[in-house]
Amino acid sequence: MATERWVSATKQPTDLPDPPHGLDPGTDPSLGNALRPTRLDEYIGQAELKERLRIAIEAAKSRSEPLDHLLLHGPPGLGKTTLAHVVASEMGASVKVTSGPALTKGTDLVGALTRLEANDVLFIDEIHRLPVAVEEFIYPAMEDLRIDIAVDAGVHARTVTVTLKPFTLIGATTRAGLLSSPLRSRFGLTHNLNYYEPGELLDILCRSAGLLSISAERDALERVALRSRGTPRIANRLLRRVRDYAQVRTGGVISATTVDEALALEGVDEIGLDEIDRRYLTTIHKTYQGGPVGLEALAATMGEDAGTLADVVEPFLLQRGLVARTTRGRELTKDGTDRVRKVIAGEVWT
Ligand SMILES: Nc1ncnc2c1ncn2[C@@H]1O[C@H](COP(=O)(O)OP(=O)(O)OP(=O)(O)O)[C@@H](O)[C@H]1O
Ligand SMILES: [Mg+2]
Repeated sequence: MATERWVSATKQPTDLPDPPHGLDPGTDPSLGNALRPTRLDEYIGQAELKERLRIAIEAAKSRSEPLDHLLLHGPPGLGKTTLAHVVASEMGASVKVTSGPALTKGTDLVGALTRLEANDVLFIDEIHRLPVAVEEFIYPAMEDLRIDIAVDAGVHARTVTVTLKPFTLIGATTRAGLLSSPLRSRFGLTHNLNYYEPGELLDILCRSAGLLSISAERDALERVALRSRGTPRIANRLLRRVRDYAQVRTGGVISATTVDEALALEGVDEIGLDEIDRRYLTTIHKTYQGGPVGLEALAATMGEDAGTLADVVEPFLLQRGLVARTTRGRELTKDGTDRVRKVIAGEVWT
């Protein structure tokens, strides 16, 4: 599988805040590509999704056709980019990588599409940030393998149609709700990635520890798994922090106690909440008496970006049942209030 990155796919540093939880893949260079599974069999968890993909891939291959366009959505760090590459590799296809914000004009997309070879995969990360003007070009490309380009203006105006080679578009997004419905409906396969179970995260950690030659006791890795917010990227990042701590403090021995100490130092508590999560919960409790409070007001009080809170912080707190989202805003649940009381009492390190 060849991967070519010919349009900057990185997030724009000027318009995005630093992501919390160390979720920026850019901060994780030694773990990013080295730990990425390349085949479906190595991709841990997401069993139903893998099964559906296996069937779609086998069927497409047996017809010698490209896979139907695929949309992957779910919170950051769950493996959307990884899966896009795995799918391409299973199809024996080359991947061209770009992103919604990098495609600023229709011509950027036209360039990207016309450079595809037959059966290539075009991966568009952050597809919810695709400008409206660019989307217009994508509809006929996805449906009819053609793009209509307007040339000249006024009385000389005419449309030139360019025919494309068969391709698969894979879109990834953390915000499926922001995708226009015409765009969403043009994907033949749409899959949501779910948070991973601790057992699956343990498998991911065992695999990563093996690849990085880290020797750790199984119950130590279990503790890392429980603090990883259901997210492989966080699991791998915490593993790296624990490895550093062990190297400096315990002569390389990674036991359950090492994990507790290393992650306490990182501000990660026993259920994986970190500083921004605790500030989110305590702000609702102290400033808004437990809620309800609107996202914008909460973000302003915390001095954080509302989109970051919605994308990165809230999904896990909602899933853990610490916060509820109602029509009137965000509210602490009973568990959320109990958690805040523990935080305030300084009892979170157990
Ligand atoms: N199912 C999996 N099995 C093993 N490792 C995984 C799995 N999913 C993700 N990973 C690991 O987690 C890291 C993060 O995954 P990835 O970059 O694909 O997430 P993402 O969903 O694209 O995140 P973002 O929304 O921030 O772009 C990868 O480098 C990979 O090592
Ligand atoms: Mg990604």
